[in-house]
Amino acid sequence: MADLRQIDTTKPIPRHVAVIMDGNGRWARSHRLQSRVKGHEAGAESVRAALRACEQTGIHYLTLYAFSTENWRRPADEVQGLMKLLRGFLRDNLAELQEKGIRLRAIGRLDMLPAETRAVLDECIAQTRTNEARQLILALSYGARQELADAVRAIAGEVQRGTLTPAQIDEATIAAHLYAPDVPDPDLMIRTSGELRISNFLLWQLSYAELYVTPVLWPDFREPDLYDALVAFQNRARRFGDI
Ligand code: IPE
Ligand code: IPE
Ligand code: MG
Repeated sequence: MADLRQIDTTKPIPRHVAVIMDGNGRWARSHRLQSRVKGHEAGAESVRAALRACEQTGIHYLTLYAFSTENWRRPADEVQGLMKLLRGFLRDNLAELQEKGIRLRAIGRLDMLPAETRAVLDECIAQTRTNEARQLILALSYGARQELADAVRAIAGEVQRGTLTPAQIDEATIAAHLYAPDVPDPDLMIRTSGELRISNFLLWQLSYAELYVTPVLWPDFREPDLYDALVAFQNRARRFGDI
């Protein structure tokens, strides 16, 4: 496993890393825990580890896929457990986010979140709004197809009002109507627990991201696992269609 020294300071590191935090349920089962929520709880320390690794390496934007639009299909007790965990995580970590100058943001259909969860989230977003050191972006009730549908609806509204013509619509128009339009596209996308799929995450933004999948389950993910991903990233040749 890589340590910090194996990251080549002469080569670029990603400005934005996006993570599909997967495998909490399998981790709970492998530890013979009766509830999948125990796996989600254990994953909170991995979030803190990922933040520490970003601090150590200078990654500015970290986007974490915490809850998908499709995850609403899960049993009510698991969904409630996840929402409670999110509130607890935000309350427990707000002071540290402030201290480290981390701005918290969220992308997704936030109106679908329970009122209490939404209130805590909004409060943390408001309190950290002017922080500039780094950004932690939580994808919550997030689906990339929904994000694109929301963008298309907003663009159609502008066309209807006559402030935009169809001929003016280009890639920049679409990018400007996504949930966090000022955030640069991820350079590196990490998925834990071995699944080789995107699961409706950042479909537009991941167009040219380097993909890294590790068998490590999210609750076991620590700084060296992120450094492994960075070493792999530094050994990739990003061509962007060029030669
Ligand atoms: C990821 O872990 C967390 C969420 C999707 C909220 P899972 O709960 O999907 O864990 P597995 O994939 O069942 O192991
Ligand atoms: C993706 O994981 C969503 C999050 C990590 C929040 P899932 O576990 O929901 O994805 P699938 O169902 O395996 O595609
Ligand atoms: Mg999963």
